[in-house]
Amino acid sequence: MSEIPVFDLQRAVAQVARDVQQQWLSLTERTAFVGGAEVEAFEQSFADYLSTAGCVGVANGTDALELAIRALDLQPGDEVIVPSYTFIATAAAICLAGGQPVFADVESKTLNLDANDLRHRITSRTVGVIGVHLYGRPFLVDAIVAICRQHGLWLIEDAAQAHGARWHGGSVGSFGQLATWSFYPSKNLGCFGDGGAVTGNDTELLNRVRLLANHGRTAHYEHSEVGRNSRLDALQAAVLNCRLPGLEADNERRRAIAATYRLVLSQVGDLKIPEDHREALPVYHQMTVLTSRRDDLRDHLSERGIGTAIHYPRALHLQSAFAPSGQPASELPVAEAAGEQVLCLPMFPQLTDAEVETVCEAIVDFFG
Ligand SMILES: Cc1ncc(COP(=O)(O)O)c(C=O)c1O
Repeated sequence: MSEIPVFDLQRAVAQVARDVQQQWLSLTERTAFVGGAEVEAFEQSFADYLSTAGCVGVANGTDALELAIRALDLQPGDEVIVPSYTFIATAAAICLAGGQPVFADVESKTLNLDANDLRHRITSRTVGVIGVHLYGRPFLVDAIVAICRQHGLWLIEDAAQAHGARWHGGSVGSFGQLATWSFYPSKNLGCFGDGGAVTGNDTELLNRVRLLANHGRTAHYEHSEVGRNSRLDALQAAVLNCRLPGLEADNERRRAIAATYRLVLSQVGDLKIPEDHREALPVYHQMTVLTSRRDDLRDHLSERGIGTAIHYPRALHLQSAFAPSGQPASELPVAEAAGEQVLCLPMFPQLTDAEVETVCEAIVDFFG
């Protein structure tokens, strides 16, 4: 067990445990487990928080992606461009919806979708783009929105790691046709199990997502198309209602921790810290550094009781799950190098200044 974990769910949960217990007791007494007031209240407050027209709660962030893609009318074989350096769900959802992911490289400066590389991958079969606000750091929204408009492509923002992040003051999740969210427990806004949502400003599209997430049901035992069962359950919505009010303060604390890491580690060894675009207000879901000595640094920190994580060790175009994509390895050099160099340091709002200092000292010590 690490003395300083990379993420500490117990400390995060302790902050809201009492509130959640009261809510869950009330739900148990009312046996109101699916749908109902808690889910509606969360959907409304999350949409208000983001300033979007609406929010549809679903079962998890992977379903959110698949449902959003289907709501945008993807046809079999349609191509969707996606960054190669992200969690597998971003690209898997395209396959699950019947489409073909096309992987683009990421910027070496930010590790987010590279707008130039994206432009080169557009073909006559391309219908959309999924951008990922990786590690809670917004991608180049203006350029990517402009490319999508110019080529008549839809844009989904995968905001699973970016609750509360902003671009030019506007919330991420309000720039694409739709945005998708995960509330997995370790996320900046996490529940006590699985949960997800789709948000956006086009109510018709959101209604389609809601329909698809509920068996295509138009009335009791009336179904206009084949959908699935993907609902945010009331117990999880109650947790999210307890946690949403604390999100801004949590994100502020994450930024303060990130600022300390940046200050102390900016000139140490060959460490590189991904930069943020000027217009971005990040929320540091992860605090990521890159070094050619990643594995040795990880061992060094582990010997000192400091936990780290590797998000992600292998770019998606190199995963056998996507082998049929047929993209030659050398085509996406930044994503490939990231897989070998990325290390995520301890990052969660309850991390103390003393702990951050200990982590920094251990890293400085490693590079001598
Ligand atoms: C970028 C990204 N997209 C999608 C997902 C999928 O979310 P879930 O685990 O809730 O299905 C995750 C979750 O880790 C993620 O990080």
